[in-house]
Amino acid sequence: MPVTRVLTGITTSGTPHLGNYAGAIRPAVAASRRAGVESFYFLADYHALIKTFDPARVQRSTLEIAASWLACGLEPDKVWFYRQSDIPEVTELTWLLTCVAGKGLLNRAHAYKAAVDRNRAAGEDEDAGVSAGLFMYPVLMAADILLFKAHSVPVGRDQVQHIEMARDFGARFNHLYGEYFVLPEAAIEASVATLPGLDGRKMSKSYDNTIPLFAPPAELKKLIFSIVTDSRAPGEAKDTEGSALFQLYQAFATPAQTDAFARAFADGIGWGDAKQALLERIDAEVAPMRARYDELIAKPVEIEAILREGALKARKVATPLLEALRHAVGLRDLRAQAVAATAAKAKSAMPQFKQYRDDDGQFYFKLLSADGAELIQSVAHASPRDAGERIAALKRDGAAALRHVSGAGLHLGEHLVGALAATATLDAVAGALAAFAGEGT
Ligand code: TRP
Repeated sequence: MPVTRVLTGITTSGTPHLGNYAGAIRPAVAASRRAGVESFYFLADYHALIKTFDPARVQRSTLEIAASWLACGLEPDKVWFYRQSDIPEVTELTWLLTCVAGKGLLNRAHAYKAAVDRNRAAGEDEDAGVSAGLFMYPVLMAADILLFKAHSVPVGRDQVQHIEMARDFGARFNHLYGEYFVLPEAAIEASVATLPGLDGRKMSKSYDNTIPLFAPPAELKKLIFSIVTDSRAPGEAKDTEGSALFQLYQAFATPAQTDAFARAFADGIGWGDAKQALLERIDAEVAPMRARYDELIAKPVEIEAILREGALKARKVATPLLEALRHAVGLRDLRAQAVAATAAKAKSAMPQFKQYRDDDGQFYFKLLSADGAELIQSVAHASPRDAGERIAALKRDGAAALRHVSGAGLHLGEHLVGALAATATLDAVAGALAAFAGEGT
């Protein structure tokens, strides 16, 4: 079975809450135990510096988030669990990508655009209060992802644009220098509904309506009893629809427990009793993890050691890649003198279409990668012109529109193009085809 690499980062600027747990930590820990998956989870502390200038908060949040993931069952020796700032290759790659990233694309990043729009509305200078760090956020994030050749990146909807940008930067780099990067896909877990917070809006630190994942029992109780409900009295039937209390319960209950809770709503359970039931349900899942969390948080030495181990493991992947990338872009040992020769080779190092007529009298083509490996073997065409038209369509649309139908070959629109070579991947084909973009066919 081919291995899928899953990677995601958690910005270290806050304290994990129940929404983070149900939406990110719990599914990620479960995914990390699946066969055929390599999981990369990291503490995005460089990203935190874009959001906060409070050093104590960054440090505290890093400790809390690391302890939370471990307490929730992440097994550091089965995954890659590390702190972004322990990997110098991340910042090094950020620069290499900065040099291929389109500034115009970054101008269109949602977070940056929102800041500019706010400034305009307030009659301020467009970039007032906007750091270059905020502007470059997507490039740093692309480096996180591309450095580890992640296939799949589980993120919230708000982050999808960043994954698309990572693909764009990766494809441009591949086009210029060769096939170094895997182009990642965003994975939005549709089944993980966002949890409501105390006031019924999405649980989020920016709404100040969160329930900390590992709040001490007394605080947990106080918060749960402050969840907003309507004013129906005990004995009156209650709506499950639109009830934050009910949705929270559902996120921590089996389907059978949820059904029973829905019946209790219909039968007019009092809000106090409903809150008590929710408290017990959450506590049943969280209490054992809370005990582990409290133990871990009291031992920062151990957490630090785990993260350093994780960094060593991650750098085993990152360091060789950076070495290859440095060479690819020309940051090279001067004693190696093949300069003129490599410059000439780089010019010809484009992917190519090779057309030919076979013994059967039909016309075919192959797509070869820049280093000559076969990527596509076409189907037969009746004339050279037919083959040429298919090639033109591939150059024009192929990078974006080509699909691989397993067992049935490569398709562009409704046309069968041919077969993917045994050693090739769809990403490699897309990268090769991207090299023809703008050729004006
Ligand atoms: N930007 C992400 C967030 O705010 C955090 C993040 C940083 C990330 N680097 C990443 C997520 C790489 C996925 C992959 O949620």
